[in-house]
Amino acid sequence: MEERYSKAETLALRRKHIGPSCKVFFAKDPLKIVRAQGQYMFDEKGEKYLDCINNVAHVGHSHPYVVQAATKQMELLNTNSRFLHDNLVQYAQRLTATLPEKLSVCYFVNSGSEANDLALRLARQYHGHQDVITLENAYHGHLTSLIDISPYKFNQLGKDCKKEYVHVAPSPDIYRGKYREDHPDPASAYAEEVKKIIEETQKNGRKIAAFIAESMQSCGGQVIPPVGYFQKVAEYVRAAGGVFIADEVQVGFGRVGKHFWAFQLQGDDFVPDIVTMGKPIGNGHPMSCVITTREIAESFGASGLEYFNTFGGNPVSCAIGMAVMDIIEKEDLQGNARRVGNYLLELLAEQKKKHPLVGDIRGVGLFVGVDLVKDQQKRTPATAEALHLIYKLKEHQILLSADGPYRNILKFKPPMCFTMEDAKHAVETIDALLTELEEATGMKTENNASANIQCKRKRVRQSYLMGTKFFGCLVEDMDIPPLTFPFCFSQLKRVLNQKVQMKALAT
Ligand SMILES: Cc1ncc(COP(=O)(O)O)c(C=O)c1O
Repeated sequence: MEERYSKAETLALRRKHIGPSCKVFFAKDPLKIVRAQGQYMFDEKGEKYLDCINNVAHVGHSHPYVVQAATKQMELLNTNSRFLHDNLVQYAQRLTATLPEKLSVCYFVNSGSEANDLALRLARQYHGHQDVITLENAYHGHLTSLIDISPYKFNQLGKDCKKEYVHVAPSPDIYRGKYREDHPDPASAYAEEVKKIIEETQKNGRKIAAFIAESMQSCGGQVIPPVGYFQKVAEYVRAAGGVFIADEVQVGFGRVGKHFWAFQLQGDDFVPDIVTMGKPIGNGHPMSCVITTREIAESFGASGLEYFNTFGGNPVSCAIGMAVMDIIEKEDLQGNARRVGNYLLELLAEQKKKHPLVGDIRGVGLFVGVDLVKDQQKRTPATAEALHLIYKLKEHQILLSADGPYRNILKFKPPMCFTMEDAKHAVETIDALLTELEEATGMKTENNASANIQCKRKRVRQSYLMGTKFFGCLVEDMDIPPLTFPFCFSQLKRVLNQKVQMKALAT
């Protein structure tokens, strides 16, 4: 139907003409997706996949209302923002109406990376400072300026890849981080860490231009900062002459259910100085936005340099952006995110009680993480198991991804039209696969003294097969940060040990 080449030909052409660092999902057996509708994607054979990961298709893949808005405007006019056009100002009005009053000035750009790069420029121009504080495991985009402030990426380049102007604060992760759920005030403790960095930086004669953080860390491991953390950080950063940049590229536009913006989870007393948005903003159309205060915008303008962006804020993008906002309202997608998200969290909480592999469930609205662990006490990341699960889910036509610094966190961020039935189906499948995995690896039966030798032999053999499979997967999916390599090696060691044990059992 929608295919021009066979899957094998597409793959061969891709290998020939597309840069090798552009990775595919499921490297062992990539998917060829030819169309999508709502929360479903269809491959070249017409097989239907439940999409639990595409937050870009925010209001649902190929939403007819968005398509119509784009087509209508394209038939009429598309040009740049140097001409007056009602779409630009109307869209700016609608977007800023969702934010606290002081965030009133927009710059329209084309990708999350462009938005964050511009946010850094605004911050640096404001007080002429240069340094940036970022969070452990953060990802803010693919431009040079953003790889520099993304430990998720620059850590993969090896030691000494952190630039002098970059300072990394601990991720405010109360499950795996420095201060955990049993700490009396993790928000203040994590904010104190930022304060210490500022003081240290100042001692060295450097000046902070910005603190940048996602309102909830996504690639960094589905981390929800404790309430009050942003307020305190903003206070310290502003006192040092810096600004607070909230990256809402992944998590904005009602995904958290309770609010339109994820930073609002911190409370009404917190307002960032700059907000960046992207991904869901255009439901797949490449567009993004930076919104800031009049004061910061004036200071940027005072440099005398014109800001011109050929495609940013063009009439077609603005029409699409407004259509996305219409649908969020008309179809009550924010409400749906709250209702379905709560249900999903309830279902997953049951899995936590049942499965030793589930260490933590965290999330808000349709932004949910399942932290898989090999050991509940030590919270050892179950990296290989997560990857195995992702592949198994794909066999069941459910698309999920594993992320975080150890790639052990199953990450739900589906289109916002995700239903209760979808949530139930995905969790039931995860339940069955976890049971299978735990039985195969002997996770549940490990301490069972009555297990007979026959049972042990079967288990060892299964574990061996699983082990080799896991390791094979890890090697093939080469987009694994160095941090996880120790786990690959420990996996290999376990497999080799099992091999020796198998030999011993067989004799
Ligand atoms: C939090 C965050 N910020 C920025 C970006 C960069 O967005 P883009 O890929 O549209 O340039 C991403 C992309 O994944 C992201 O996750």
